[in-house]
Amino acid sequence: MSFNELHKACEEKLSKEVDEICEQFVVDSDKLAQMTEHFIDQMEKGLQPLPADVSEATDRGLPMIPSFVTGLPNGSERGVLLAADLGGTNFRICSVSLFGDHTFKLEQLKSKIPDELLEDENVSSKDLFSYMARRTLAFIKKHHPDAMEKGASAPVMKMGFTFSYPVNQTSLNSGTLIRWTKGFKIADTVGKDVVQLYQDELDAEGLPFVKVVALTNDTVGTLLSHSYVSESGSSLCSGEISEPVIGCIFGTGTNGCYMEEINNISKLSPDIREKLIAEGKTHMIINTEWGSFDNDMKVLPTTKYDIDVDQKYSTNPGFHLFEKRVSGMYMGEILRNILVDLHCRGLLFNHYKSYNELPHRLRTPFELGSEVLSHIEIDDSNDLRETELSLLQSLRLPTTSLERVEIRKIVRAISRRSAYLSAVPIASIIKKTKSLHKRYHGEVEVGCDGSVIEFYPGFRSMIRHALALSPIGSEGERKVHLKIAKDGSGVGAALCALVA
Ligand code: BGC
Repeated sequence: MSFNELHKACEEKLSKEVDEICEQFVVDSDKLAQMTEHFIDQMEKGLQPLPADVSEATDRGLPMIPSFVTGLPNGSERGVLLAADLGGTNFRICSVSLFGDHTFKLEQLKSKIPDELLEDENVSSKDLFSYMARRTLAFIKKHHPDAMEKGASAPVMKMGFTFSYPVNQTSLNSGTLIRWTKGFKIADTVGKDVVQLYQDELDAEGLPFVKVVALTNDTVGTLLSHSYVSESGSSLCSGEISEPVIGCIFGTGTNGCYMEEINNISKLSPDIREKLIAEGKTHMIINTEWGSFDNDMKVLPTTKYDIDVDQKYSTNPGFHLFEKRVSGMYMGEILRNILVDLHCRGLLFNHYKSYNELPHRLRTPFELGSEVLSHIEIDDSNDLRETELSLLQSLRLPTTSLERVEIRKIVRAISRRSAYLSAVPIASIIKKTKSLHKRYHGEVEVGCDGSVIEFYPGFRSMIRHALALSPIGSEGERKVHLKIAKDGSGVGAALCALVA
């Protein structure tokens, strides 16, 4: 065989293998229907109390965490409140002024979470929460110097705390961490009340007048801030809810929440339910923690790359398996695993003779961010030069033009599966709550936040395609409005603190 023939044969083999990989990432309408049915079942299970004889094998369903938030804002709320927001990448302190006319002003101090807090094995809860308290101190000194001067005698400043990890919420201002997600692994925080941990450190930093009065999840914040900002929020004031509005995050992690009838939340103790109903409350926001959907892997599409990402590289193997197929933190890691595998099979980057010769960054877990995929996704430059540059910059990885064509195919398969899976919880909540048949037009607003839904090219349209293929069908899909709700974690936490 001549050199040219050999070269051609290699190209064809690569293309064929890549097509086979991409095929494993396809989610069709049957799969969407199967997943939607299972998702609804898991929501219903998660609303039930755990049986007394619970064991490892018990199907507990989705976490379905009661938020203790029983109404949505209507835009008329006013006040100046503090908000703290611990996400997967950043920690923010905000001062939020709500003007009572659907508008707000937000001043913030945003800091990238130091790598050692995420990576160092010896980090303790105290290290994390005292870091947060020190950032809070820096913010208060700058934005509220009058309070600093008064010290302990300063008037109380109410703070809402957005903590975007699964907690067992016991009241509006307390909750214990169930487990970390998105890279944190500080073992001694699990099982502790995160509000108490933060308040203790605020007190220790000389900020006793900053009172953490509400604990919330970023999805709950997104739903609240969406209702505050949205003009249609006016008709959704507490007690008059006639349709669920979903709040969701598609960013580093993924999750969603919605309004559930208190009568259906049988895991709440009868005392609490009766008390709320006596107060005229009918609904409560449930934080589904859908990142945990199908940890038993009954219906989730699974490739060997998903298994490797979960088992070999993630900090929480066996958990949040839906998130690991959907969210921004994992899209790049799936691609990295596929590229390394293709190299090891002699199909890609053949100028590197062995795995150890590959650029260090390509061998480093989680080094490939979803923003690189977003450049590749829509690269229509000559010879895919954008892709070439992006891979050189991010991974120091040189590529041939043919390799780039194949890499773009893989990127599109990963993002499409992510978006199609994202449609499943949305379709399921809409179906479970029968919201398409409520209110006069059955329109459903979904407040969304997160880097993937906001910035990943085509992500929202792909969710829409999948919604049309899902059991809600194209007629249902037309009534779903996916709206970007900015700053949910800040404004939402402030709104929670206001009612606390
Ligand atoms: C967490 C959720 C959070 C979501 C989005 C997930 O990893 O478990 O609590 O809402 O990320 O930030």
